[in-house]
Amino acid sequence: MTHEVRAVVARQKGAPVSVETILVPNPGPGEALVRMQACGVCHTDLHYREGGINDEFPFLLGHEAAGVVESVGEGVTEVAPGDFVVLNWRAVCGTCRACSKGKPWYCFATHNAGRPMTLADGTPLSPALGIGAFAEKTLVAAGQCTKVDPAASPAAAGLLGCGVMAGFGAAVNTGGVGRGDSIAVIGCGGVGMAAIAGAKVAGASRIIAVDVDERKLKWAEQFGATDTVDSSRTDAVEAIRTLTGGFGADVVVDAVGRPETFKQAFYARDLAGTAVLVGVPTPELALDLPLLDVFGRGGALKSSWYGDCLPARDFPALIDLYLQGRFDLGDFITETISLDDVEAAFAKMHHGEVLRSVVVL
Ligand SMILES: NC(=O)c1ccc[n+]([C@@H]2O[C@H](COP(=O)([O-])OP(=O)(O)OC[C@H]3O[C@@H](n4cnc5c(N)ncnc54)[C@H](O)[C@@H]3O)[C@@H](O)[C@H]2O)c1
Ligand SMILES: [Zn+2]
Ligand SMILES: [Zn+2]
Repeated sequence: MTHEVRAVVARQKGAPVSVETILVPNPGPGEALVRMQACGVCHTDLHYREGGINDEFPFLLGHEAAGVVESVGEGVTEVAPGDFVVLNWRAVCGTCRACSKGKPWYCFATHNAGRPMTLADGTPLSPALGIGAFAEKTLVAAGQCTKVDPAASPAAAGLLGCGVMAGFGAAVNTGGVGRGDSIAVIGCGGVGMAAIAGAKVAGASRIIAVDVDERKLKWAEQFGATDTVDSSRTDAVEAIRTLTGGFGADVVVDAVGRPETFKQAFYARDLAGTAVLVGVPTPELALDLPLLDVFGRGGALKSSWYGDCLPARDFPALIDLYLQGRFDLGDFITETISLDDVEAAFAKMHHGEVLRSVVVL
């Protein structure tokens, strides 16, 4: 049986998205069909629409989502119909060279559904990050479903599926921020704000929020920033050094992903500090740094894919913190919208008006 559902599709580079009827097959072996309840609008969806990820149009957008498993294919044991799940884009394979070395958060062969979802005319869709959750139903590999406590609100829980997990993990997993550390976060959208909130949970003593938008800096204080820097007016590197005894922060997270912000992260670190790139650069961007500075400043330059998370370990733990009131996922939700409002949500994101717009189905 094929399911006809409404979904948000990006047909052409740069063109507005459209809501269309798509065809979703029943799950094959190892797959799960999920009825979506909520899906956040992440900047990566906009990168896809703009052709910044690859040219495999048409894309089925949406990848930061929660829902209920409707049916499962042959051999699926990890989830069952009725389970409340957050979708992940890291269903680890267990056998690739990263998994074999005991570093499954780098898994190079993550699982996705094999059966294609299509447009009504049969054209196969490329689901964003192997998910495609701006849809009433989507088909994923069963390992992409992480069971969490159904007491959590779907709109809040779904945020763990991408941006919040990426930001939280960039600070805590990749950057290794802990008690007494200083951290600066450049770019305070959903991802950067989660890095700030994560640093607070981890016990960082100084948390410096950097953005070019005053509104984001105001919100950052509510998420745990101890200091804010408007880098449209002030030199971010100088300001971060001044706030850290003249030395720089232990960890600087670049949640924008541009050469200028990465350079700020590079120079705003203390000697032997860590710069973490979690913002996703577009293909034309290049970095030019004096190699002697790379050597002389020491430390680590790291990229953070999905916050180096392990969904099965990290999603339930963060849901627990949320349900205990220690990490307020709900604060990331600026507005709830319908599938028809995704294009408008991109514009709001572009103008800095929202932290997260969340489609509720
Ligand atoms: N690595 C990952 O696994 C992962 C996962 C999710 C998202 N991302 C990426 O993270 C980035 C941020 O995503 P988001 O959803 O938070 O986006 P967003 O658009 O909501 O936020 C971006 C923020 O950066 C600020 N900004 C822009 N230019 C700046 C500059 N020059 N200096 C300082 N601040 C600046 C904006 O004002 C905004 O507050 C995107 O590139 C997205 O693709 C990465
Ligand atoms: Zn693997
Ligand atoms: Zn995302």
